[in-house]
Amino acid sequence: MQHIHYKNNELYCENVAVKKIAERFGTPVYIYSQQAFIDRYKELKNAFTKITPLICYSVKACSNVAILRLLVKQGAGLDIVSGGELFRAARAKCPMARVVFAGVGKTPDEVSAAIRHKILFFNVESEPELARINAVARSLRRTVNIALRLNPDVESHTHHYITTAKKENKFGIDFASARRIFARQGKYPNVRIKGIHLHVGSQLTRVSPFVNALKKTMAFIDSLGTLCSIDTINIGGGVGIVYDQERTLSLKEYAAGIERIIVPRGYDLILEPGRFIAGNSGIFVTEVQYVKKTTGKRFLIVDGAMNDLVRPTLYQAYHEIVPVTKRRGRKALVYDIVGPICESGDFFAKKRKVQEMHPDELLALKSAGAYGFSMSSNYNSRGRAAEVLVSGTRAHPIRSREEYATLLKGEILPTHLK
Ligand SMILES: Cc1ncc(COP(=O)(O)O)c(C=O)c1O
Repeated sequence: MQHIHYKNNELYCENVAVKKIAERFGTPVYIYSQQAFIDRYKELKNAFTKITPLICYSVKACSNVAILRLLVKQGAGLDIVSGGELFRAARAKCPMARVVFAGVGKTPDEVSAAIRHKILFFNVESEPELARINAVARSLRRTVNIALRLNPDVESHTHHYITTAKKENKFGIDFASARRIFARQGKYPNVRIKGIHLHVGSQLTRVSPFVNALKKTMAFIDSLGTLCSIDTINIGGGVGIVYDQERTLSLKEYAAGIERIIVPRGYDLILEPGRFIAGNSGIFVTEVQYVKKTTGKRFLIVDGAMNDLVRPTLYQAYHEIVPVTKRRGRKALVYDIVGPICESGDFFAKKRKVQEMHPDELLALKSAGAYGFSMSSNYNSRGRAAEVLVSGTRAHPIRSREEYATLLKGEILPTHLK
């Protein structure tokens, strides 16, 4: 996280002190480095030397429209999974010819909106979905491009909640069913099967699952002969990042492994990175409220909670936690770092050694840019955190803290209860 660093014992995001951002916008707050997003996007793009992939940033990772606009301005497309994300893509002025739409449960309204917007591809996850897209396209007198999302049944060596290409997962289409779909594609004249989509899993730290999935897929394509006339392979997202001490994959090997298979066949390539671009581009900053000692335990109770950042409790995820101000002479102590929500699952870390902390002092959870804010909720009627985008010496608010009135927006008091 080179754009998030210490200067004279103060944590900075680019050239702005994190404590100044906290003073100005309050806590809890998500803080993102603009340059980190740009660097990660370019790093991935430049790893490919023989092909120019279309990088469709996965909106779900961090979906603030300012972040989307930033990446779209760099040339990125977007990977969406809902009508809401389509709406965000439009607001971010993403050219729709750079939008791909995945997800197992697209509704008729979502399909219709995406067809009207003329997106690049639907990534189709089942034959009933294909039939639905065909029917909606016919009613709109259109023919649309789709990529079949295959489930190649490969091991991805990641947390079992984020594997997506094993046969027991709900995602994608097994080879036998995909073969049947190709064989009767004539039944669906308003769709053209122009691509194959894969997404092997998330937070992958090896190249082999990507290559294995591609190899199995190429053998499958070959076995289809003239039934298959695709021109695009979408390899999905999944490139892992460093949260702790883990070794991640080499981007160079990742790109070379994909190119070796794709380039000789002349396919276009689409990638859908989320975590790789956003994960280490953001931090989550929270203020200590209380230090609570019980027999044998010391808790830091902070103002952020599982509604703000659910990854630790949902995935047993590790986030490095550091003081925003390093204070000389303070020893390190072991704490459970927890939020105020009425759930034992409301924790950020257990038995974690950090500098001795006192009330009103700030902690930063690193690597919080992906699946942080975007997975947050209003549980316990907590307004969601503010988001701030730092660019050089300037901190731009990109989402204000939710107020109490926002919590009730959309709720209706029936007349008999007034
Ligand atoms: C279809 C698809 N593409 C891309 C992504 C982004 O994955 P990651 O953030 O691991 O790159 C996901 C994540 O769930 C996904 O389901």
